[in-house]
Amino acid sequence: MGVPKSVSERVKELREQIHYHNYRYYVLNDPVISDYEYDMLVKELAELEQKYPELITPDSPTQRIGDEIVGGFPEVEHKVPMLSLENTYSKDELMEFDKRVRKEIGGEIDYVTELKIDGFAVSLVYRDGLFVQGSTRGNGLVGDDITTNLRTIRSIPLKLLSDEFRDIEVRGEVYMPKEVFAKLNRERERAGEPPFANPRNAAAGTVKQLNPKVVSDRRLDIFIHTVVNPPGCKSHYEALKIAQKVGFRVNPHMKLCKSLDEVIEYCDTWEPKRHDLEYEVDGMVIKVNSIDAQQKLGTTIKNPRWAVAYKFPAEQVTTKLEDIVLQVGRTGVITPVAVLTPVRLSGSTISRATLHNQDEIKRKDIRIGDTVFIEKGGEVIPEVVKVVPEKRTGKEKPFKMPEYCPACGSKLVQYEGEVAVRCENIRCPPQVRRRIEHFVSRNAMDIEGLGEKVVDQLVNAGLIEDVGDLYYLKKEELLQLERMAEKSATNLLNAIEKSKERDFARVIFAIGIRNVGIHAAKLLAQHFTSIDSLKNASFDELRQIPEIGPVIAQSVINFFKDKENLKVIGKLRKAGVRLEAAKPKIPAVERKLEGKTFVLTGTLKSFTREEAKEKIEILGGRVSSSVSKKTDYVVVGESPGSKYTKALELGVKTLNEDEFKKLLK
Ligand code: IVH
Repeated sequence: MGVPKSVSERVKELREQIHYHNYRYYVLNDPVISDYEYDMLVKELAELEQKYPELITPDSPTQRIGDEIVGGFPEVEHKVPMLSLENTYSKDELMEFDKRVRKEIGGEIDYVTELKIDGFAVSLVYRDGLFVQGSTRGNGLVGDDITTNLRTIRSIPLKLLSDEFRDIEVRGEVYMPKEVFAKLNRERERAGEPPFANPRNAAAGTVKQLNPKVVSDRRLDIFIHTVVNPPGCKSHYEALKIAQKVGFRVNPHMKLCKSLDEVIEYCDTWEPKRHDLEYEVDGMVIKVNSIDAQQKLGTTIKNPRWAVAYKFPAEQVTTKLEDIVLQVGRTGVITPVAVLTPVRLSGSTISRATLHNQDEIKRKDIRIGDTVFIEKGGEVIPEVVKVVPEKRTGKEKPFKMPEYCPACGSKLVQYEGEVAVRCENIRCPPQVRRRIEHFVSRNAMDIEGLGEKVVDQLVNAGLIEDVGDLYYLKKEELLQLERMAEKSATNLLNAIEKSKERDFARVIFAIGIRNVGIHAAKLLAQHFTSIDSLKNASFDELRQIPEIGPVIAQSVINFFKDKENLKVIGKLRKAGVRLEAAKPKIPAVERKLEGKTFVLTGTLKSFTREEAKEKIEILGGRVSSSVSKKTDYVVVGESPGSKYTKALELGVKTLNEDEFKKLLK
């Protein structure tokens, strides 16, 4: 049975109306119909779509939430890198920025001054007017594809309202309104879950949720602040105005300024007012308005040279330091943490602050019972800056690092030349827990369903002592745990089983060798094809790998000296976890670039950067992002950047495109 024409027309009409009312409501904040009328439109559309499912299209307003849980996020390459802004903290630094710009461009410069939204950077790509891909910033070149999650944000248009922009990429900041944040944290605390430290973390944590339904419930919002290469626009200001017209939510608090004085005046008006907003703002962004001038100024590797952030000074408040407790980290380092009388600071409630180590406590003469200044800069973790000695009553108690671990009672040790005090008992319960948490975390074995709570339960019930035991858990055992039902037990066992396929680099990262982050783990996995060859590597062999320094090399050696670690590896091996690299696609004789490090600069005619990188890697070479003496070749395309000059300076061999192709043959 075909779809009657009247129905398909009505569906089209409903969609257009709903898109328009979404825009009025979520973007302009100025609805023209009641919520009830709006709900009726959506209901009618949903009913028609249910009857005629062939009419459902991905841009239909009913399609904001899919039911499926996406499994991990695929990667997305950013065609234009997502850079970050250079920070300035004073008017003098702003003046220097202005001087630099005027020197290069000449004449008077128009700037656009905007609020710097403290959220989570995303990119949105539209093809033919439809939202096709949304991604995180990632490392600036490659991010995560979070399209499904972003689709749940009502102010992100699924379809653009008019034709000025059709094939376009915009960038913006996803944020969680302060009120939503406060409510979410209240709910989390009630449910016994740890609260988020601030709205930015909550937004970031939410956008990266694997379940889009959760994202949809959390009411995130977005401001668009950049249109990438805006077609037909001479200025950034014009581009943002059109962006708003085609359906994007652009922050209304921005000003086109004719001079730096105006910029500074506008920044000054916002500094005291910033807390009145319903979202967090951590400074201002100043951008050269003319697109031509922006292009002339260009970018450095990290920052555009046509824009700068002006950060508001970190706020400080005083509160009472009620106690100092000790936290035991994954590697046994003991960190003293201040327990504070809760206070509001920069939009969040603070009740704990790090004290780093006992030397810091001594240096700042911090005592239990003191009134202290705490500060939260751009950092997530607040810090105790100093004490207020005038407020002392004489009852304050100096802090003394105990001799024994507060968690397991082992004697603490401090190595010469190190400030850190450690508990070296590998079975110390918080260490065991943290190692397991690390092992299952997203960049490591990525085992879903093993949050802090469940790990605690498993350890307390004596079901696991180390990460190896995870692979021998039985359903009956899991079912004994409180609040663990049949379905979650099955899901958890499936997730554990699936993690056996994780690649070798992740396994190296997951087993928790001190000082080995994910990047070092990848380097090690490229050089050693199995855990056994890594175990047998000598210090010198490890040191020969570019970027592996003495600290990491020694940490690897120490790790494999430890019998407990070897026991864990034995368990992983027996369970079938991948302890070797996937077989190289090319036989060893053809891996002729083995051990060679390349840096790419400029545009190549025959390949994209990604393709060139792949070709090098297939032949056994590796690509690094910066030039050093250890670089073997710098491949120089058209309009090369500063890496080319650096190569010349250091005398590193350069290859033009033809020479590079010859090498690949
Ligand atoms: S323009 C180079 N404008 O701040 C990128 N960024 O490091 C140009 N941000 O992650 C960005 N508010 O996402 C721009 N009004 C605004 C912004 C803004 C917040 C974020 C941005 C980036 C970070 C800068």
